[in-house]
Amino acid sequence: MSTHFAHTERRTTLNDLIAMSERGQRWSMITAYDYLSAGIFEEAGAHALLVGDSAAMVVYGYDSTLPVTVEELMPLVRAVVRGSRTPLVIADLPFGSYQASVAQAIETSSAFMKDGGAQAVKLEGGAPVIPQVEALSSAGIPVIGHLGLTPQSVHSLGGYRVQGRGEAGETLMRDAKALANAGAKAIVLEAIPSELAARITDLLDIPTVGIGAGKATNAQVIVWQDLLGISDQEPPKFVRQYAQLRAPIKSAVGSWIADVASGDFPGPENSYQ
Ligand code: KIV
Repeated sequence: MSTHFAHTERRTTLNDLIAMSERGQRWSMITAYDYLSAGIFEEAGAHALLVGDSAAMVVYGYDSTLPVTVEELMPLVRAVVRGSRTPLVIADLPFGSYQASVAQAIETSSAFMKDGGAQAVKLEGGAPVIPQVEALSSAGIPVIGHLGLTPQSVHSLGGYRVQGRGEAGETLMRDAKALANAGAKAIVLEAIPSELAARITDLLDIPTVGIGAGKATNAQVIVWQDLLGISDQEPPKFVRQYAQLRAPIKSAVGSWIADVASGDFPGPENSYQ
């Protein structure tokens, strides 16, 4: 009996990604917030699409990730699910949607899975969120942790700066182990020294996913607007830009505006008889 196995093509799971890491294969997670970009990143070969709370800044224009809500992220999760067929889609739990209690974390995560169609969730933090990670895992919700520079804690961290130097590195090691023991299936490590990321990666049986954490992690994650140079801001040091799309987009739109002004657009080929 097998409705569950009727389709040959299926989405990548976190267990698939764990197996890749065990085979020594590095994999890639990229943010996506809409239908078209999700499809492009799938065609490019991305293994996982993260509907990050970074949408707060790159989609909604807030000055940090703190203000974005579940209601604002939910339509983006749905669009990314509709726009892709095989990558794992991860919904990032926004600030204030999981910290209050285990029940709140389960409610928010279930909504992203039931209404949004996500296959996994990600949340930020170490020791304080261990009960949430345990409960989500027991409820059958694949969960990814996030340690180091956790942008939802920007005010208590005192800014966007490298974490885990000196003694703080030992706390990060303990938090990483505790998240893995609680059932996390992967951990994002953001903006920490490469050598610490290597130690954490060695310590764990689950994959580490680096962003500003050096080469030793099992996978990498990136915000696509950073990778493709669409912002007018200087990218962080850990970004390698593979394109600078802001200039050609601006120039193409500028050409259209000029053609509209001069009357050159629309031409006969753009008009109906
Ligand atoms: O929200 C996000 O895009 C993230 C990544 C930077 C890991 O959390």
